[in-house]
Amino acid sequence: MNRDDKSAATITIDPWGSTVIKDYGKLFEEFGITPFDAVLDRLQKPHKYMRRKIIFGHRGYDDVADAIINKKPFAVMSGFMPSGRIHLGGKMVMDEIIWHQQQGGSAFVAIADMESHAVRGLSWEKCMEIGLEEYILSLIALGFQPENGYIYFQSKSQVIRDLTFEAGIEANYTELSAIYGLQQSTRISHMVSVLAQSADILQPELGQFGGPKPTVIPVGADQDPHIRLARDIAARMRMFLVEHRGNYISVRARGSIYQEQMKQIALELGGDVREYEEHIDIYDNDDLHAIEEVVRRIEIRNGGYGFILPAATYHRFMSGLTGGKMSSSIPESYIGLTDPPKEAAKKVMGAKTGGCSTLEEQKKHGGMPDECTVYELMLFHLVDDDGQLRRTYDECRSGELMCGTCKKRAAELMESFLKEHQEKREQARGQLDEYTIVGINA
Ligand code: TRP
Ligand code: SF4
Repeated sequence: MNRDDKSAATITIDPWGSTVIKDYGKLFEEFGITPFDAVLDRLQKPHKYMRRKIIFGHRGYDDVADAIINKKPFAVMSGFMPSGRIHLGGKMVMDEIIWHQQQGGSAFVAIADMESHAVRGLSWEKCMEIGLEEYILSLIALGFQPENGYIYFQSKSQVIRDLTFEAGIEANYTELSAIYGLQQSTRISHMVSVLAQSADILQPELGQFGGPKPTVIPVGADQDPHIRLARDIAARMRMFLVEHRGNYISVRARGSIYQEQMKQIALELGGDVREYEEHIDIYDNDDLHAIEEVVRRIEIRNGGYGFILPAATYHRFMSGLTGGKMSSSIPESYIGLTDPPKEAAKKVMGAKTGGCSTLEEQKKHGGMPDECTVYELMLFHLVDDDGQLRRTYDECRSGELMCGTCKKRAAELMESFLKEHQEKREQARGQLDEYTIVGINA
């Protein structure tokens, strides 16, 4: 952004950093992610990541919004690879899981030790240690509740292992290649861990967890390939496909072995239903949703899964504090939730800002919060009140606020957040028994 753009932008101030979001625009066209805006308006009390457009897109979230609004069953699930330290990026996913749990969803959290073991080569013991010490303690400290909350280590769950195998029946080499760019040297267990993630995503819809329900997977945009795969697999694990075809609705059996079940559907629906070998066409009922419900019920009665396609929300990432990407190999670039609070405050004081090189210049031209990692920390994590955040934005732009003062404020907020968080982590240690954690107490 040059100075001219900046002064033009003063007229339409967007404190939530829309200029940065534009970079994510191509995800909409290229991958079919839907902008979050329309669904945002339907939610009564959207999360601050939603209000601030940090969550910028979704797939299939309408079903989840319906469930929240109408107080119907739904689930939220996401996972963490236990390979390093939990930082503010992991906190974002946790915040999103916890928010959905508070909206009434049942919440599932995977510690992806199969992925970490296969892809990063960490031993199972190390995965257990990091999973518990870094991730589970912070999850609980941030407010994850034991009621309606289910945590598991992938490798310790027979349900996940079984579902991983089933998912593998519906995924072939060509498809995985298209999504992930497989090579001759790609290791099989790496791909198995990808299927385990599909299993994670579909598990909340299994009979033992109450059956099919809208399920949202909050993730960073980088996880979209996994979401696409899980949705494809979910569709292929169905017995039937229900779709609009011009002036009729068709129920198509995925394979000729389901003829008997298709007759049941036709019988139950009644009316003008024309039966063919592998599909039935319905001419006098265009309530797709109602037909889907009938089909799903019959599918489940016959031992099928009846999956509803899993939904996802996508958030954008914070930049690294040193400017470029946040990277675990550059400790100054990120803030770990277990960083000593004073050290984290120092990282904030040393972070790259959008300020000018001299005070006079900054007083004259103002700073550039949209390009400031300290502002990002406030936007994403440190300031909950929208009005307060906006004031900071405006004062920065107008040249009233200088970076020194601003950084000091942010550093103090960071220090007290971490101090409190770490106290809560220690309390969480004593509360583990209240939680279901497959691999530890279940
Ligand atoms: N692959 C994810 C990561 O690298 C972790 C993960 C495993 C996950 N299972 C999941 C994320 C299920 C979302 C849903 O962080
Ligand atoms: Fe960033 Fe604050 Fe400086 Fe503005 S005043 S550029 S928000 S540190």
